Amino acid sequence: MSVTTFLRDGIAVITISQPPVNGLGIAVRRGLVEALDAANDNPAVQGIVVTGGARAFSGGADIREFNTPLAMQAPNLPSVIAAFEASPKPCVAAIEGMALGGGLELALGMHGRVADGRAQIGLPEVKLGLLPGAGGTQRFPHAVGLETALNMICSGTLVPAAQLKDTRLFDALAEGDTMDAAIGLAKSLAEAGAPFPKIRDLRVEHPDAEAFLGFARGAVAAASAHYPAPMACLEAVAASLGKDFDAGIEVERKGFAALMATPEARALQHAFFAERNAAKVEGVDASTPRREIRRVGIIGAGTMGGGIAMNFLNAGIPVRLLEMKQEALDRGLATIRGNYESSAKKGRIKPEDVEARMGLLHPTLDYAELGDVDLVIEAVFEEIGVKQQVFERLDAVVREGAILASNTSTLDVDRIAGFTRRPQDVLGMHFFSPANVMKLLEVVRGKATSPEVLATVMDLAKTLRKTAVVSGVCDGFIGNRMIEQYSRQATFLLEEGATPQQVDRAMEKFGFAMGPFRMSDLAGNDIGWAIRKRRYVEQPEMTYSRTADKLCEMGRFGQKTGAGWYDYRPGDRTAHPSQAVEDMLREHAASLGVAPRKISDAEIVERLVYALVNEGAQILAEGIAAKASDIDVVYLTGYGFPVFRGGPMRYADEVGLYNVLRAVRRFAAGYAGDAWQPAPLLIELAEAGKSFNA
Ligand code: NAI
Repeated sequence: MSVTTFLRDGIAVITISQPPVNGLGIAVRRGLVEALDAANDNPAVQGIVVTGGARAFSGGADIREFNTPLAMQAPNLPSVIAAFEASPKPCVAAIEGMALGGGLELALGMHGRVADGRAQIGLPEVKLGLLPGAGGTQRFPHAVGLETALNMICSGTLVPAAQLKDTRLFDALAEGDTMDAAIGLAKSLAEAGAPFPKIRDLRVEHPDAEAFLGFARGAVAAASAHYPAPMACLEAVAASLGKDFDAGIEVERKGFAALMATPEARALQHAFFAERNAAKVEGVDASTPRREIRRVGIIGAGTMGGGIAMNFLNAGIPVRLLEMKQEALDRGLATIRGNYESSAKKGRIKPEDVEARMGLLHPTLDYAELGDVDLVIEAVFEEIGVKQQVFERLDAVVREGAILASNTSTLDVDRIAGFTRRPQDVLGMHFFSPANVMKLLEVVRGKATSPEVLATVMDLAKTLRKTAVVSGVCDGFIGNRMIEQYSRQATFLLEEGATPQQVDRAMEKFGFAMGPFRMSDLAGNDIGWAIRKRRYVEQPEMTYSRTADKLCEMGRFGQKTGAGWYDYRPGDRTAHPSQAVEDMLREHAASLGVAPRKISDAEIVERLVYALVNEGAQILAEGIAAKASDIDVVYLTGYGFPVFRGGPMRYADEVGLYNVLRAVRRFAAGYAGDAWQPAPLLIELAEAGKSFNA
């Protein structure tokens, strides 16, 4: 039973119990109106309290019903809310845990509300490209005021109930037992008799609403150029200022329907589900045994090792950090401490957290100290010989049953596993830089990696608040293998006459946080150079652009050398177009015999994004990624792909694979066309009229 009722002191207590968060699916909606009708029919009942128990009043719509006819099946949420609002007996919401989205809208339809001050309150629909569609844009402003409502609805921010205590939203914040307080309120409303207070009868008060809305429109427009939802939220809230409640509801209803039809809403919802689905891995389920991770060893205290260590320290897991030399260890430790101190200065962590976290970190030069760790992550130089030494050593000293992971970005994890006598315990954990900040973790499943090891690491990723995506073994795994094609196209475009600033601007207009050249200047152009040098030897048959090599030969490694694709002034990260680079580009193109042509922004976007898509299709066909949505998650969480486009594969679906394939074929016949072999899977799906994300 999703909804049950018991009677206490003449009050019917209606309890929603639909784990995990009391989503308002069809069974709950029916249960609620049936319980309400029964309570109203029962002469022993004077009033009604609705509760969801201690964990959640309700987390809102049931996401399993999203985009299915069930979501609107009668009774839909607006009609459930209307039934409570029109009840002849007073109804009170007892809010604990959370009241979010539709859950909060349900509470707003009651005659009174009592909350635990710690309960999370909010209308996060905007994050899925929608607006609160069950009266939230109308009742919430009446309850909390125009400014607070607008801020919370347009941003989707959640706040603790206590933060709204000075508004009309709650009749009381429960000091002790929320249920006792709610029953008390229901009784006193019953004693006072009808008509019961309704939020719809309140009016929004604001001294200068029009001026405020004018200012808010400017701010929302500037902050959400690519997102229609925040502005639609704003206009719906603005409609709550009118005298006629139902007219406002009509604006909300139309706005909701219009947003549902936008590609941005579909993309954001895709991203939401894609991330949840990334955690589902073939061959692993709830019954797969997990190993306990109580202590961790990290090898290498460089850029990555230090950042990786911080993830564990933040989660309260002790770390032994091993280096070859004391100086390197001291440097690594100082960087970690410096990061924590700067976080404390900015107020992101408490001052006492600095020592608490550093206290969990044990530096060492001695492998013997790794004997009893449960997991080791190796982050030493990217050379197979060095990896071999480290893994042979680990195999000799680390206890049986411990997990051995490599943070390698390009090397063969199966080969690395082969350096040990326990390949079933070996896998890749590919963090992204800065490892203490970036959410993405590619979990590289070797051919021998056991389901138990994989399951343990996927769970661990959650503990570390990472978004984990499983990748098979190949050069570059999912993310870097694809980005290489993207970067290659970017440099071919330079040979044909585009400038770095034009390419960056086009990609930033498309929605990337940073175009490829500004990004490369930030990461360091020498990293790609080193990888290319290896590729020239290993894959001489590939078509390469030498443009980036020319740049590196000029010593222009990026921000760290004050010069890359752009010029930088000391102490300033602003990218200034560089004459020296433009001269180099012109000279290089001339030496290749390429006459510069005018290139449109649309072509730039197609060339770069379809390069990702075509390689993504290949990765999917090879089983390196298990599903197209996993590739989308990698790009959304690790590469700044615009969320409102849902990831490269989802974007290709939206454009239509037939159209993508046509463009790829056109590019294959153009400049450096042998960089384009249309992926067989792309051809197959395009011809069948199908999509990557079914
Ligand atoms: P780094 O050069 O900053 O750090 C490597 C550290 O390992 C140095 O401190 C070095 O002293 C230490 N080291 C070398 N050999 C050792 C050994 N035998 N025993 C103990 N310590 C040893 O390099 P970075 O950037 O941290 O890269 C480390 C690994 O992470 C590489 O495999 C790299 O491909 C991978 N990676 C790097 C990313 C990046 O953006 N820098 C991103 C993702 C992965």
